[in-house]
Amino acid sequence: MRMRVLGIETSADDTGIALIEASGSFGQEFKYQVLGNALSSQTAVHAQYGGIFPAMAKREHTKNLPLVLELALKEAGENSERPHIDAIAVTHGPGLEPCLWTGITFAQELSKKWNVPIVPVNHMEGHILISMMEKDRLADFEFPALALLVSGGHTELILIKQFGSYEYIGRTRDDAVGEAFDKVARSLGLQYPGGPEISRLAEYARKEKLPSLLTLPRPMMHEDNYEFSFAGLKTAVERYVNANELKSLDREKIAREFEDAATDVLLFKTLRAVEEYGALTVVMGGGVSANKFIRARLTEALEKVGASLLVCPTNLSTDNGLMIALSGYFRALKKEFVEGDKISANGSLKLC
Ligand code: KG4
Ligand code: ZN
Repeated sequence: MRMRVLGIETSADDTGIALIEASGSFGQEFKYQVLGNALSSQTAVHAQYGGIFPAMAKREHTKNLPLVLELALKEAGENSERPHIDAIAVTHGPGLEPCLWTGITFAQELSKKWNVPIVPVNHMEGHILISMMEKDRLADFEFPALALLVSGGHTELILIKQFGSYEYIGRTRDDAVGEAFDKVARSLGLQYPGGPEISRLAEYARKEKLPSLLTLPRPMMHEDNYEFSFAGLKTAVERYVNANELKSLDREKIAREFEDAATDVLLFKTLRAVEEYGALTVVMGGGVSANKFIRARLTEALEKVGASLLVCPTNLSTDNGLMIALSGYFRALKKEFVEGDKISANGSLKLC
């Protein structure tokens, strides 16, 4: 049976709405088509604050949602009065609660207007699922798989036993890796979001083989667990920047050293988990998974141990409506519909 699912994402600073048509259960018979996919990013609005300003993000989402819906439906050749949609999927966590509520309220209004049921979606499952896709279907892989979720709010290693069956095996004790990228960028006077900026400078330092300026710590790398800590790494950069006057190309050298250190830690812990849990597939998701250097190093390291990396195209690594529509489809198949007024935002929603 074919199903059309509209996905709504507002957990952080991106307003995303996508419409997909999908068929088949989770497995090789699953197929989907993107009918419309629209996004409005608020990065320019938040750049001046060096991070997301929740009250402003909420206002922007409220303003953007009807416009983004219009764009997504137009691309799909539908109108907003009575579109052909079978279910509405909306992110109900984790994320910033004021932002999550804007998406939920919008979904409730559409659900009433169109008489279509709502299925609440976990944002992190969306990141996992979109990285499991290969064009219009699921990549061919076997469970158990390991998810490495790396974003502005999360750094987690999760064992995926089956679709929907998760076990946390480690997470960050303090800052998320994306948060560290953003804060290091800020201390170097770079723009928000910091990830792409740091990455650009680090790539330049590698290409030009700039000499090393400092050595940063690899926090918790050799500890016998799957926990992470990125606050110390960020602080080490801040301390250096406060104590030294930066000369030309110093920022590039610091960016490279920071990216090297963060990548080493992520890689080391992921490989250990692959070995211990016998996973042959690592699914990397979340905004930081757009990082070219981390992708390349992880791909290479996994190949050496006979495992492989699943990751989505970089333009879909950061938040979008498509990942929510995908998760919503599989959840709708399980009939996990919830009456609109019973859905609430949960900023710290867990996968299990
Ligand atoms: O998943 P996402 O869009 O939003 C959250 O759910 O947090 O992730 C945003 C994070 C930001 O911290 C941003 O700096 C980071 O992803 N990011 C990157 C790159 N592109 C985005 N970090 C490192 N390298 C990148 N190329
Ligand atoms: Zn995200």
